[in-house]
Amino acid sequence: LPIQAPDVSQCQLADGGGNQINCCPPYKSNSKIIDFKLPSPTSPMRVRPAAHLVDSAYLNKYRRAVQLMRELPASDPRNFMQQANVHCAYCDGAYDQVGFPDLELQVHNSWLFFPWHRYYLYFNERILGKLIGDETFALPYWNWDAQAGMRLPSIYTTPSTSLYDALRDAKHQPPKVIDLDYNLTDQNLPDQEQIDQNLTTMYRQVVTNNTPELFLGAAYRRGDQPNPGAGSLENVPHGPVHLWTGDRTQPNIEDMGTFYSAGRDPIFFAHHGNIDRLWYIWQTKVAAKNNSGFKDTDWLDAAFLFYDENAQLVRVKVRDCLDNKLLRYTYQEVDIPWLRKRP
Ligand code: C2O
Repeated sequence: LPIQAPDVSQCQLADGGGNQINCCPPYKSNSKIIDFKLPSPTSPMRVRPAAHLVDSAYLNKYRRAVQLMRELPASDPRNFMQQANVHCAYCDGAYDQVGFPDLELQVHNSWLFFPWHRYYLYFNERILGKLIGDETFALPYWNWDAQAGMRLPSIYTTPSTSLYDALRDAKHQPPKVIDLDYNLTDQNLPDQEQIDQNLTTMYRQVVTNNTPELFLGAAYRRGDQPNPGAGSLENVPHGPVHLWTGDRTQPNIEDMGTFYSAGRDPIFFAHHGNIDRLWYIWQTKVAAKNNSGFKDTDWLDAAFLFYDENAQLVRVKVRDCLDNKLLRYTYQEVDIPWLRKRP
């Protein structure tokens, strides 16, 4: 049977890097939960831009949206910190599986990874758009799989703007080239060598791993222990990019280097924009047409809860997020240098 949406009324303290922290969403026992419906097929298509290519009009809009999100009352589920806490709650033990009081609900290290994060960004993006009254607003993606995007995007690096976060690695500021296989040790390769290595990593993780099991992750069903096994992209570069971005002087490489705080860095949403884009690229350009996802209803009917742009609690199912165009967003097209042949 599929994993069920958590019971928010049973949300518990989470493990925030060794400290018990409260990252439960606001919830009233009379809160009504509605079932997700796809946006209207005639609503505008949001086009997520590459973060290194945005213009100043876009940047101003994006900064303002995140600023407004930070300024919402702390108790509003759409508030910036509440949004960060959504990640904490689903990743650090705040929820048990319904009916299994000792079984943590975990959305990493299994086939839930891509769908859960897709919905997380989907709602975050709609909240931002609503705050600035722009139905076409789209989150940027960090295009770290192509040479031009292999640095921390500069739009995030200006102190005292809403996109800045102080808890990042001081040695990984631009123009330092990212290491997509980073494991807490700087290789300090010449730029071109690091770039070539990154492209090889991309090919290996996305093209070589071409079945749903290898790419999307291991099956995770009702009553199962958490963390049955991550897919290739979740392992690398997803994990390394988190570690590379977080501040090595913090106890848990906060913010990006650990689950409970990762969503507190606005760059999280650009990193996951690229993860989500690579899922789309994998589905449409790598996987065999009839094997680009699981047919298993325990995957398709797995459910989560999110607050939407109207602060309404929504129950979503994996089956409704498999085609991003039906969710009315897509990605700005850029060259994909690693796709066609082993670099
Ligand atoms: Cu939920 Cu990138 O982690």
